Amino acid sequence: MAGSRPGLSTEKPPGRRLVRERRTVALFKPEPPPRELLLAAADAARWAPNHHLTEPWRFYLLGARSVRTMIAIAEELTLVRRGAGAAKKRRELYEAVPWWLAVTCTRSGDEFREREDYGACCCAVQNFMLCLWEGGVACKWSTGAVTRDERFYELLGVSPEEEMVVGLFSIGYPRIVPEQKRRPVGEILTELA
Ligand SMILES: Cc1cc2nc3c(=O)[nH]c(=O)nc-3n(C[C@H](O)[C@H](O)[C@H](O)COP(=O)(O)O)c2cc1C
Repeated sequence: MAGSRPGLSTEKPPGRRLVRERRTVALFKPEPPPRELLLAAADAARWAPNHHLTEPWRFYLLGARSVRTMIAIAEELTLVRRGAGAAKKRRELYEAVPWWLAVTCTRSGDEFREREDYGACCCAVQNFMLCLWEGGVACKWSTGAVTRDERFYELLGVSPEEEMVVGLFSIGYPRIVPEQKRRPVGEILTELA
């Protein structure tokens, strides 16, 4: 489609560097990216589209104490579900993550508005991830069991009636950037008459 519009070439598709090359990364270098970069990415993220200008996103940058609590919850959940070995691995993996950040979405009690607000939060998250990527920093969006545990909401200082967790993000300089594939655009794009 882009190729049929004047000034746009299919040889250099738009959004290549950021949109196409951003990857979810799980393994990070030990050195933490500057806090300022994370704050700048959150600052840019809030320019995402949001219907009725609800600005439903909330960002929580976890400090040392919050991280310790979050890891203890995740470890315990893993212990119950998958045993001691998996719980130990989970702790080691999580302790090696330079930064943790949670994104929540404010709740309104109105089903349709909550759906739109969740959509807006996902747009904000994408902005956030792309800004990080532009600065050479990667992250992994997680909706694992810990993000749905009531103790995690307590840690954030919110109730599930007020806000819902959109994701917990592990953030750092990538150690390994995995490859990813997408189906050809022809399989997902239908041009209607
Ligand atoms: C709403 C949402 C939840 C996700 N939750 C998880 C998760 O719990 N664990 C995980 O490993 N990846 C999670 N991901 C990341 C996806 O697995 C990842 O985006 C996908 O593998 C494509 O890789 P890419 O981001 O590098 O393109 C989540 C992504 C989204 C959008």
